[in-house]
Amino acid sequence: MINLVLAQQQLESKGYLDIEVDPTLDLTAEINRLKREKNAIILAHYYQESEIQDIADYIGDSLGLSQKAAATDADIIVFAGVHFMAETAKMLSPRKKVLLPDLKAGCSLADSCPAPVFREFKKKYPDHIVVSYINCTAELKTLTDICCTSTNAVQIIESIPPDQKIIFAPDINLGKFLVKKTGRDMVLWNGACMVHEIFSHEKIVKLKQRHPHARFIAHPECEPHILEMADYIGSTTGLLKYTISDSANEYIVATESGIIHQMQKASPNKTFIPAPPNNACACNDCPHMKRNTMEKLYLCMEYEMPEITLPDWIIEQGRTSIDRMLEISARAGLVSA
Ligand code: 13P
Ligand code: SF4
Repeated sequence: MINLVLAQQQLESKGYLDIEVDPTLDLTAEINRLKREKNAIILAHYYQESEIQDIADYIGDSLGLSQKAAATDADIIVFAGVHFMAETAKMLSPRKKVLLPDLKAGCSLADSCPAPVFREFKKKYPDHIVVSYINCTAELKTLTDICCTSTNAVQIIESIPPDQKIIFAPDINLGKFLVKKTGRDMVLWNGACMVHEIFSHEKIVKLKQRHPHARFIAHPECEPHILEMADYIGSTTGLLKYTISDSANEYIVATESGIIHQMQKASPNKTFIPAPPNNACACNDCPHMKRNTMEKLYLCMEYEMPEITLPDWIIEQGRTSIDRMLEISARAGLVSA
């Protein structure tokens, strides 16, 4: 991540990381006050903790969040999500101040594809174009022709002429899902998300036996042997919409557990069971997403840091791939709200 170590050191030297929040403070009231006073908008991903989702101006998946970041007239975008999402917001709204409550909220998937290594890999395929999942670094986006999210990935691949060869990065599981779905033979980068690779096939089979009427729904970042069992595969927004429109009363959910908050709110009479992971831990939390807390959200709005900044060349060269994605999504009528 660009200048991340330096930026973290700057926060430390300013004493920002030592500031303690008064435990008696009404954080909800304070955050709402700061939103009004500073004309700030809080964009939150579905994987954020429930309290943050409830105070956000907009909660969504990666496509919806990018569309909001591109369209907002707020002066400050507070991104309750991870680093690559805040970077995308900065690329789309470079003149706005973009804040991320915890600069260390990274992403194992984005980290699995370092731009310098990918640059060399790409040289082996000079007649291929690059489609990258938006869960990648800003620098990787400069090496990308078109970005995609899990909501629009199929439409993005299908918009590319059939004889055009494609490298897909960085998620090998989403890549394999797309190869199967579109019939396109793509070169796949071998990256993955630590949260979606943790699900246990054996435990899910047993859970399904105990809940024979439950539908099993999964995010396409899961491994193929998990996806094979799914009744429905979709992005976080896709999964949420499915649980609202579908007639079942019980769902086993194979994605980060934060989405269950919105599922339960939208369908209070239905039961949502997080799919069991491969280890002894009973949670499917993303440790990066969950670095953000209400305290950090409050502090970042009060002190307007940590701020996401990007070199001009990254914004200029990386933005094209996101703009192309948004154009194709708009043509396909995909609004992820
Ligand atoms: P979506 O919300 O776009 O489905 O992405 C899931 C994810 O892993 C975000 O980090
Ligand atoms: Fe990255 Fe996976 Fe966490 Fe999403 S859930 S931010 S892809 S590590």
